[in-house]
Amino acid sequence: MMDVSSLKKKVENNIMCGIVGYIGTNKATDILLESLELLEYRGYDSAGVAFCSGKNVQVYKCPNRVAVLKELVKEQKEDAHVGIGHTRWATHGSVSYKNSHPHQVGQVTLVHNGIIENYKELIHTYHLEDQLVSSGDSEVACALLNLFYKKDPMEAIIKTLSVIEGTYALVMIFSDRQEEIYAVRKVSPIVVSENETERMLASDVMPLSRISKEYFTLPEQVILKMSKEGIHLYDFEGHEVEKKKERLDWDIEQMNQQGYPYYMEKEIAEQKEVLQRTLLSYVEDSFPCFEREALTEELFEKSKHLVIVACGTSYHAGLYAKNLFEKIAHLKTDVYLASEFIYQEPVMEEDTLVLVISQSGETIDTLEALRHSKEMGYQTLSIVNVKGSSIAKESDYTLYTYAGPEIAVASTKAYTCQLMVLFLLVYRFAYTRNRFTKEEVQQEIEELKKVPYSVEDIYQRKEEFQECAKEFKDEKDLYMIGRGFDYYILLEAALKMKEVSYIHTEAYASGELKHGPIALIEQDTTVIACLTQKDLVSKASSNMKEVRARGAKVIAFMKPSLEKYLEQKISIILLNDLKDDLMVFPAIVAFQLLAYYVACEKGLNVDKPRNLAKVVTVE
Ligand code: F6R
Repeated sequence: MMDVSSLKKKVENNIMCGIVGYIGTNKATDILLESLELLEYRGYDSAGVAFCSGKNVQVYKCPNRVAVLKELVKEQKEDAHVGIGHTRWATHGSVSYKNSHPHQVGQVTLVHNGIIENYKELIHTYHLEDQLVSSGDSEVACALLNLFYKKDPMEAIIKTLSVIEGTYALVMIFSDRQEEIYAVRKVSPIVVSENETERMLASDVMPLSRISKEYFTLPEQVILKMSKEGIHLYDFEGHEVEKKKERLDWDIEQMNQQGYPYYMEKEIAEQKEVLQRTLLSYVEDSFPCFEREALTEELFEKSKHLVIVACGTSYHAGLYAKNLFEKIAHLKTDVYLASEFIYQEPVMEEDTLVLVISQSGETIDTLEALRHSKEMGYQTLSIVNVKGSSIAKESDYTLYTYAGPEIAVASTKAYTCQLMVLFLLVYRFAYTRNRFTKEEVQQEIEELKKVPYSVEDIYQRKEEFQECAKEFKDEKDLYMIGRGFDYYILLEAALKMKEVSYIHTEAYASGELKHGPIALIEQDTTVIACLTQKDLVSKASSNMKEVRARGAKVIAFMKPSLEKYLEQKISIILLNDLKDDLMVFPAIVAFQLLAYYVACEKGLNVDKPRNLAKVVTVE
């Protein structure tokens, strides 16, 4: 047996920033600012750009939104065609002008994503004190590059990397080479794209699609040189490295708000289409098919234990799926929060398959859990939405969700698409493990095909949820109760409500109420119940009575065919009828809409809730 005690090593820190670099025939200012807007969803508190005017490299930055930066940049009259940009999410060092990127020291202008762990030591060793104005680590890399720069960028980069410790995506311009951009990375991502007249790099693929559908990920510890003439990659010995091109299936149009007031609504509305796309991508002859992704029958046969690792909403998808894997496929499944994984000493054996789930594919805790699992020799499978992301690249097998770009911080369509892929995996395992015949699996798939229509039906009734939201908007606390699958649906529903409406919302397994939480219930406390499971309706009904007896106002979101079993008069929102275990789809869309409209009623910034970032690359 193998254990994972050695996973307790220190995990690297990282900063959630957005980076972009551009060389081309278009006006660099416009392209960089547009690109930074496309990276805004990652979360940030400062923004900056640097342009090459031919004479000098001009820096504009502010501890503020890209919209403010745009105003500053209006002063820039020169027609620059080369530039770099950055959005910073402060972790070390305050949100201030000085700490914003780009940094400029002597000949070097630089943006950085990551953390230079030994920066204090480096300041001391190389006597950099007098050259630094910021309180962060990134400027130290800039000062070192300047110190080592003797007209040879490669040499300066290699020398700098030989002394810094930590993680980085570094993008640099040297002031006597204003037609060139250099970049190098370790852990923090950089993806690159080009067409005949333009070259671009960025932290993720969002801004690249305007350049080309083809892109490549900059390999770690390889130096990129970008100029009008082209893009070249070099290893530290100066040998040219090959670019491994991939195709992007997102386009810029999908990233537009398309007339919706918020991305969150657009993404809720898209669920019919993206669920259909995800389902059809993995089904042949009404049977789950993962051949293209190289998931062999052997893998299904030899995996006797599943360990799911994820964060936030993706973790909730994993929790729901645990029940499915165990009930339907009889496959022992454990689910871990990625941030806790390394401390929990999970018992894993040679037949354990580690399944990581991530929309962004960049969540640092999930990525580290994946890396540790690989180091320990386990097979890894990921369910990821963003193509070319680190998790997708580093897992042994990857199944993409075809949700398209998810821009709103609150995850909606990615969650339902993750569940769709998980259902297909469950049925595939159920077949291999002789729990279902091929025909039975095919029948289940036919049921799954109803899901996109069911979620569309809920979306079309959005006004009902909008009305309902008016009743909730002034709540301070909300409690959600449910049993079995309903409890797991509510964990996600409560997260949606918390993050976009800022209402303190807790989900409880109804049976647990009497073990403590019922003490919170008083006259007029609002309790939302979820009732979608026939077997549990009578117990769930008793739990509703218990809270009503203590003065709670109860509103039940329920499967219509279960209404007849309710003996009590309570407010009801009827969902629609699917098989019990598929009810998660219409139910969660209803809760997504409720959370969304409560946030709208409160006049909140629905797509960018306070303190949150879309891509969490800080552990
Ligand atoms: C909540 C939400 C987060 C993410 C979490 C993991 O709506 O979006 O809880 O689910 O940060 O992110 P990924 O799935 O990108 O690893």
